[in-house]
Amino acid sequence: MRPMTKAQFQVFATSQAVAEAVASHIAEAVQSRPQSVLGLATGKTFVPVYAALVALSKAKGISFAEASSFNLDEYVGLPPNHPASFRCYMEENFFRHVDLPADRAMLPEAHGDAAAACLAYEAAIAARGGVDLQLLGIGRNGHIGFNEPGAPFDGRTQVTQLTPSTIAANTSDFPDGEVPPPEAITMGIGTILEAREIVLVATGAGKAEALARSFLATPAVDCPGSALQQHPHVTVFCDDEAYAEIAKG
Ligand code: F6R
Repeated sequence: MRPMTKAQFQVFATSQAVAEAVASHIAEAVQSRPQSVLGLATGKTFVPVYAALVALSKAKGISFAEASSFNLDEYVGLPPNHPASFRCYMEENFFRHVDLPADRAMLPEAHGDAAAACLAYEAAIAARGGVDLQLLGIGRNGHIGFNEPGAPFDGRTQVTQLTPSTIAANTSDFPDGEVPPPEAITMGIGTILEAREIVLVATGAGKAEALARSFLATPAVDCPGSALQQHPHVTVFCDDEAYAEIAKG
C-alpha cells in the first residue's frame, strides 16, 4: 500500500545509490537555478551524499559560485573549529571542495549569544529570499533538524535541548571521552516548512520506523517528521531498508 501522503518516494537498493541520486537532484537544482538557496544537513547519512555531490560537481563542472547555503543546526558552545562542530563537518565534507563563497555558507552562530543568533539566522534566510531546496535527515525518534519530539510545527530557529537518545547517537562523532553538548540551535519546524522544496534522506533499517511514523501516521508533535505531510513538495530518497515499514503499509 502507498503511504497516505503527498510526498514522493524514490527507493534504491543501496545507500550509495541513494547518495548518488540525491547528489544528482541537488546538482540539477543548482544548474537550473545557479542562485539557489540550499538548506543543508549534517549527520552520517549525508557523508556519502556530499562525497557524491563533490565528485559530480568536479566531473560536470557544476558551480556553486552564485548559490548560498544555510545549515539546519549547530551545537551550542562548540567553537567552529571543534572537530565535532557541524561547521567543521561541512568544511571537511563539502565547503572546502566546491566554489560556494565562504561568506554565503551559513551555520547558526552557536558559540556566542544564542538567542541573538537565532533571530539573526531567520533574518539572514529571509534576506536571501528563503530556502529553495532543504535537505533533511531524520533521527530514529523522528527528529528533523534538532527538533526533538514535542517541538511545535510552527517553531522558528531556536535553542533546543537534545534528548538522551540523540546525544547517544552523536557521541561517536566526538573525541574519546567527550560528551556532546546538551543544547543546539536548530531551524524550527515552521522555518523548515517554508522551504520551497524538501528532500528527506533516510538509509538503513534504523530509520524504517521513523519514516513510517512520519508518513503513514496522523501528523503529531511526538514525531517531528510527520510535519512534512503538511508540505506540498517533499521527496524522500531512501534505501530498501529504510522503506521496509512503509512497504508493509
Ligand atoms: C543534522 C540534523 C539531524 C540528522 C539526524 C540523522 O544536521 O539535523 O536531524 O539529520 O540526526 O542523523 P544521521 O544521518 O547521523 O543518522
